[in-house]
Amino acid sequence: MNYINMTYDEACHHAPIEEPARQYYFIEYCKALLDKLKEVAEKETFTFHLATFGCQMNSRDSEKLQGILEAIGFEETDSEEADFVLYNTCTVRENANQRVYGRLGHLNSLKQKNPHMMISLCGCMMQEEEVVAKIRKSYRFVDIIFGTHNIFKLAELMAERLQKKKMVVDIWEGTDRIVEDLPTDRKYPFKSGVNIMFGCNNFCSYCIVPYVRGRERSRSSKDIVDEVKKLSKDGVVEIMLLGQNVNSYGKNLEEPVSFAELLTEIDQIEELKRIRFMTSHPKDLSDELIEAMKNSKKVCRHIHLPLQSGSSNILKAMNRSYTKEQYLVLVDKIRAAMPDISLTTDIIVGFPGETEEDFLETLDVVKKVRFDSAFTFVYSKRTGTPAAKMECQISDEAVKNRFDRLLKEVKLISSEMCRRDEHTIQEVLVEDINDPARELLTGRMGNNVTVHFKGDSSLIGKTVNVYLDESKGFYYMGTLRP
Ligand code: 5AD
Ligand code: SF4
Repeated sequence: MNYINMTYDEACHHAPIEEPARQYYFIEYCKALLDKLKEVAEKETFTFHLATFGCQMNSRDSEKLQGILEAIGFEETDSEEADFVLYNTCTVRENANQRVYGRLGHLNSLKQKNPHMMISLCGCMMQEEEVVAKIRKSYRFVDIIFGTHNIFKLAELMAERLQKKKMVVDIWEGTDRIVEDLPTDRKYPFKSGVNIMFGCNNFCSYCIVPYVRGRERSRSSKDIVDEVKKLSKDGVVEIMLLGQNVNSYGKNLEEPVSFAELLTEIDQIEELKRIRFMTSHPKDLSDELIEAMKNSKKVCRHIHLPLQSGSSNILKAMNRSYTKEQYLVLVDKIRAAMPDISLTTDIIVGFPGETEEDFLETLDVVKKVRFDSAFTFVYSKRTGTPAAKMECQISDEAVKNRFDRLLKEVKLISSEMCRRDEHTIQEVLVEDINDPARELLTGRMGNNVTVHFKGDSSLIGKTVNVYLDESKGFYYMGTLRP
């Protein structure tokens, strides 16, 4: 096929309708256009820089975007002085948006120096109408904008931009489509995220995710199991099953499958050593799941169980569908089944109407549960969510005071909890070089805590036994054991 002389409209006409074949067609088309550009620019390579903000979902999406960019022929670079710069954005908190606008100014100055540079924005922030309107108006140098539902289309959008030479904007309001089998490039050869579902139906009153990621859609269990098998044949020993609320997996499938059933099926895949999952909503964490975890050797002893608030009144206003007492009962049930479980959480401080008494309830839960670690957030008002319209937004001063008190407590407890495995031998998956000068490696235990120890980089990707010499608060120093 002679792609070079084809206009974008002709390419659209020739491209297969069905996916992923259509995208493979556009990857080849972009490759030809890029080769031509290289000649014009007298450059041997065109580089890309991909910056990812936000959660594990975005990280996984970025691996897919990276796979497409590499298939087109771009080479990765750490520097933003690249020919294609892509920001995969997050919008959970307002300050994330501000950071992106700040960085765009800098990108514009780089673009002045490189006539071939393209700037692209995608991800959650682009699903907000005001954001796209602002970029169209004030950041006209941006080349491609797309959202969360159509990341698989990157090659097609790039082809349009290269040929039509004007800003391309493609935002979908929602989708029930899941495009499988596009190229991906994993950050680590030995571990990978695997999407099991997309979107969220919970509408917690502070949260923008259901608006930017759409309604819950589960992938078929067959597609998931096939992907995990393929990954494990390719050397992956640890997978992280990803969804905004994994415990409601499978409810909208033609033949419903529970998350516990999916976990049990994945557990049978021989080459796989570790299974993790993220995130669990306390209202949906079933006894069946606790039982499945308990009976599995591969599912890591770690649950991320966002609390958000310890006050039943605030939880109600947050639309979380559980009370303080129900959360504590759930924790007891999990710990009774798996005493060595590591529990981590997310907590928001300063939700509208939060009183000092409400905050003390949160502190009380923190002290009772003793989380291994907790991500603490200051409430951020997100336009379009019900909480943004609530009265009694809390003063900055009160929020800061509560946030500092919470953080102090969380840090103290997590350093005590981390110490509980000191002087034991633990199985560790070696992930990276920590400090080349001291020949230190970094590995991760099943409970997600890291350990640094002396060893050779050939161990990366392998599971080894490590003696935990000393807890350093949130990580360990250890010694490799035969
Ligand atoms: N303000 C502050 N934190 C928020 N989160 C979600 N929305 C907001 C918001 N508007 C936090 C929640 C969630 C985590 C991913 O981000 O704690 O679990
Ligand atoms: Fe947001 Fe709640 Fe859905 Fe989590 S469960 S993504 S906090 S709406």
